[in-house]
Amino acid sequence: MESPFIEVAQADAIEPGKFIRVEVASKPYLIARVDERFYAVEDNCSHEDYPLSYGCLDGARIKCSLHGSRFSLETGQPEDEPADEPIRTYRVECAEGRLWLDLSNPLNER
Ligand code: FES
Repeated sequence: MESPFIEVAQADAIEPGKFIRVEVASKPYLIARVDERFYAVEDNCSHEDYPLSYGCLDGARIKCSLHGSRFSLETGQPEDEPADEPIRTYRVECAEGRLWLDLSNPLNER
């Protein structure tokens, strides 16, 4: 069976407390590093069609810069209004210094 993982970046391209935006098949994703852990989420706010990568990290949350909702990078759940729907989260693995995403199956569904 073919692996669902797609290589997207070098792990050392993301410093702790930072994130990068990547595109796979013309869709944007945000990969964040919090301490030594990596998270992958869709780069689109669930409140309006707006890139979360315009925002900033707040611990293991991404804060949307348009209206301020914060989303858990772990679960995708919004922690503040006005957003009331989660964002999709994905498995991300680090192997041999590279980051791999499994986009075949979001960890959560709306
Ligand atoms: S567009 Fe993100 S909170 Fe409104």
